[in-house]
Amino acid sequence: MALRDIVKDGDPILRKRCREVVDFDKKLGHILDDMLETMQKAEGVGLAAPQVGFLRRFVICLLSDGELLELVNPVVLEQSGEAILHEGCLSCPGKYLEVKRPSYIKLEYYDRHGEKHVRSFNDFNARVCLHEIDHLEGILFYDKAVKK
Ligand code: CO
Repeated sequence: MALRDIVKDGDPILRKRCREVVDFDKKLGHILDDMLETMQKAEGVGLAAPQVGFLRRFVICLLSDGELLELVNPVVLEQSGEAILHEGCLSCPGKYLEVKRPSYIKLEYYDRHGEKHVRSFNDFNARVCLHEIDHLEGILFYDKAVKK
C-alpha cells in the first residue's frame, strides 16, 4: 500500500463527473487499498476516487461502527427524511459547514470483486455515503451548505 496525495479544492479534477468502473481488476483493489491508508493517515471518514486523481466511480466510507465500506458504481435507489449536520472534506481543509441531506438511503453498488449489493444506511452513515457519492458528480459539500 502507498499513501496518495489528496487533491485540494480548486483543482478542476474535483469538478468533473466520474465514469463507471468497468474492470474489477487488481488495479482497482490496489487503489482502494491506497485510499484506505490515505484516509486513515488524514483521519477522515470517507474518500472518493477523484480526490486521489482517478475520475472513476468508487469511494470508501468509514461507518459509525468502524466498518470500512467500499462503494463501486454506487446508485441511490431510495432516499427519505432530512437532517442538517456539520461536514468537512479532506479536499477542503479547515472548512466545516452545515449541510442538509436525507437521513435514510438505499444504495445499489458493487464491491471490488464485482459483486452487486443492495443495502440501506441511516443518519451518519447515509451522510458519509452521500457526501462521497457527490464527489463522483463533481459536487463538493459546501455547494449544498445551508449557509455559505
Ligand atoms: Co469530501
